[in-house]
Amino acid sequence: MVSGVGTAPGKVLLIGEHAVVYGHPAIAIPLRSLTARAEVTYTRTPGIELVAPDMDEHLVPGEVPSPALAPLQKLAEQFLASFGESGQGVRIDLHSTIPVGRGMGSGAAISVAVTRALCDAMGRRLNAQQICDYAMIAETIYHDAPSGVDPAVVAHDRPIYFVKGKEPRPVQTGPTDFHFLIADTGMSASTADVVRDIRAARERDRATYDSYFWELGSLASVAREVLKTGSAGELGLCMTRAHRALQSVGVSSPQLDQFVSTALEHGALGAKLSGAGRGGAMIALVENAEDEEKLTRELVGAGAAGIYTTTLSNDDV
Ligand code: PMV
Repeated sequence: MVSGVGTAPGKVLLIGEHAVVYGHPAIAIPLRSLTARAEVTYTRTPGIELVAPDMDEHLVPGEVPSPALAPLQKLAEQFLASFGESGQGVRIDLHSTIPVGRGMGSGAAISVAVTRALCDAMGRRLNAQQICDYAMIAETIYHDAPSGVDPAVVAHDRPIYFVKGKEPRPVQTGPTDFHFLIADTGMSASTADVVRDIRAARERDRATYDSYFWELGSLASVAREVLKTGSAGELGLCMTRAHRALQSVGVSSPQLDQFVSTALEHGALGAKLSGAGRGGAMIALVENAEDEEKLTRELVGAGAAGIYTTTLSNDDV
């Protein structure tokens, strides 16, 4: 019998990716049309069993976990240990509709879902920050040295302004809604590999890379102010400038550049890659539902593997 259930949304980075690793701000928003779900069942055999049919993975207690499941096993073990339940056997069933390796927060969402399911099973109430701290156990193994923006936005389940090591701040928006369209390139990239690569490039030319990150961080700060005023045009400009800076960092790809051009040619107010890049997704800001439909058709024609939409509105804060 299932004793606990936890769910969590996907996410997209609106602005500030990569720079956030070096202490600059970023803005991230939940992507609620995509979800991860975990179900906890108590078992007689001690240890953690993880069953993930979507990934074709099954970890039986006593076996060496695969790279995909090892972070979740560690998270569950530490969660049980911190509540004095190390001897307890649990089976955790995992399901997710979030594409993996596309900057949509698949790892963070499944980690938050597992934490919430364990809380539910054990009758524990943790706040969003505590849930985020548990999810970071897995995230640190998935991503080496993550900024923590992904688990933060997923655990808080609201748009956030995030600076590494600090409590996330809610994003305030003005009277108008902002409509975003996210196009999946269909190509996966490892965030850990991309971040490691950029760190090595920065070591070779710190001044240049730090100037890119400084610009990206400044754009995130401007975007935060622009969101308050409700000026979609200005936000779009910030996004497109951020894409140019991310191109300089070296994390775009021909397909991401093509999606950005397609979006801008067909009425988007701004567009950029979202997440680690070198694959993954593009995010575009559109004015209204009509433009959204038109752009969806164009991006599907340009090879998008999936299109998702999300709206940032005053209700979110
Ligand atoms: O995992 P992704 O693709 O959403 O990338 C996360 C954002 C980065 O800034 C590239 C990495 C990080 O740890 O913040």
